[in-house]
Amino acid sequence: MHNPRIRKTLIAVAMLAMASPAARAQTQDKERSGKQVVDQVCAKCHRTGVDGAPKIGDKEAWSKRASRGLSGLTKNAISGIRKMPPHGGHPELSDTELKRGITYMVNQSGGHWVEPVGAKPRAERSGEAIVKAQCVKCHGSGAGGAPKLGDRAAWSERVKSGIDPLVRSAINGHGGMPARGGMANLTDAEVKNAVNYMVVRSIAPAPAKAKTP
Ligand code: HEC
Ligand code: HEC
Repeated sequence: MHNPRIRKTLIAVAMLAMASPAARAQTQDKERSGKQVVDQVCAKCHRTGVDGAPKIGDKEAWSKRASRGLSGLTKNAISGIRKMPPHGGHPELSDTELKRGITYMVNQSGGHWVEPVGAKPRAERSGEAIVKAQCVKCHGSGAGGAPKLGDRAAWSERVKSGIDPLVRSAINGHGGMPARGGMANLTDAEVKNAVNYMVVRSIAPAPAKAKTP
């Protein structure tokens, strides 16, 4: 049952998973400033005031809302309110980025808020956490032809030419597979963690721990 090529791939995958955290941290994305968030996302509605969005620069509209404080406004921006879509329609925005965007708009409209500094840099998420939060949505059931988590045959076939081509196609998207599995804020390193996790979990014999040399 143990194909030596697959065994070799598994060892390579296990070693990759242990690659230096310092090298991987460099690829981590930076959170955007309030201005960047607004220019890229919020301006679409808040510049024009479409659907009753409080307009950037409209002191009256913003001072009324600003009286509820940053946390009150952030709560509504996260969950959405009436015609305001959750996260401004961009689920990949972090809470800090949303807060910065709100602060920026308030300040452009007569406010004097201090733009929140980033929480400590986000720790790289583990493959297991990412897969459980996101990838299982399709890879749990095999939706749309996604190779199922635990389907040894399907994953062995795909990993034949190694892990890197799989990571690349997961980053870029592939057929019914959305870019970064639909989780746009994943770093490349995190996508790799998730792919490693799915491959190892699917191909490795269940509970047996890999022997450490
Ligand atoms: C598709 C249009 C659209 C986009 C994009 C959008 N908004 Fe809004 N936003 C609205 C509308 C419409 C309202 C008014 C909702 C209401 O009170 O009825 C609103 C209201 C708000 C409010 C006030 C909420 C409250 O509690 O009164 C905040 C804060 C806000 N938006 C923040 C943002 C931020 C930050 C972004 C960018 C990340 C963003 N919005 C992107 C349409 C949008
Ligand atoms: C919306 C459904 C969906 C989600 C969510 C999803 N996938 Fe996929 N994935 C697919 C489908 C469908 C395929 C098969 C695509 C094909 O080969 O045409 C696939 C294929 C893949 C492949 C194989 C690519 C190849 O070249 O053979 C990898 C690796 C992969 N997904 C990783 C992930 C990771 C990692 C996540 C989570 C971050 C994820 N996927 C989330 C649907 C999804």
